[in-house]
Amino acid sequence: MSHEVVEKNVGLMAVLIAVVIAVGGIVEIVPLLFATQTTEPLEGVEPYPALAFAGRDIYVREGCYNCHSQMIRPFRAETERYGHYSLAGEFVYDRPFQWGSKRTGPDLARVGGRYTDEWHYAHLMNPRDVVPESNMPAFPWLADNELDPNAIVSRMRAQKNLLGVPYSEAQLGEAHGKLEGKTEMDAVIAYLQGLGTAVR
Ligand code: HEC
Repeated sequence: MSHEVVEKNVGLMAVLIAVVIAVGGIVEIVPLLFATQTTEPLEGVEPYPALAFAGRDIYVREGCYNCHSQMIRPFRAETERYGHYSLAGEFVYDRPFQWGSKRTGPDLARVGGRYTDEWHYAHLMNPRDVVPESNMPAFPWLADNELDPNAIVSRMRAQKNLLGVPYSEAQLGEAHGKLEGKTEMDAVIAYLQGLGTAVR
């Protein structure tokens, strides 16, 4: 009969619904506040070095994520092709993350070290030169565009100050020199060569 009391009293029902939702919410949300898996970097995962950091922004600008995921799922078909499945602690410094879901091309989460820098250069200049059946677009302008070291160092500093990425002052200090005279192509290749290399 107590059920009837609730059903016939809108105010009481509203209060009880609020209580149920609050309990359900707390049970789901509170454990996440204490889960370090997604906020602690995996051993060996470091903030992006200056050149790779610049390359990452260009990767986003060029929309590479529209065709490439960076998320190896824990299935045999994936791990045999791409390597160890992706781990939460690998993406701690990825803001925004590049997991993606569209795979017109292969997953790139562990492409680092799979090819030489020269291969990447040729591939980005014209994919058909190294993979004849490729339908990936060419990105030849990357080789012409020089980086703007000041803008990139400011962005690194913002990552440190606003998002808490642990760049040391020494790293920020030498970043400018590492970016000077480099092209966007150098940056994208440095980024690709670092992908997924913390886990072997
Ligand atoms: C329109 C879809 C498309 C876009 C956009 C695209 N790619 Fe690709 N990519 C492909 C396809 C398809 C392949 C497989 C054929 C080949 O190797 O060229 C590929 C292959 C690759 C490979 C070789 C991966 C491997 O394991 O063999 C790399 C590295 C790569 N792309 C990087 C990039 C980067 C960096 C960008 C952005 C600057 C980009 N791609 C943009 C479709 C795309």
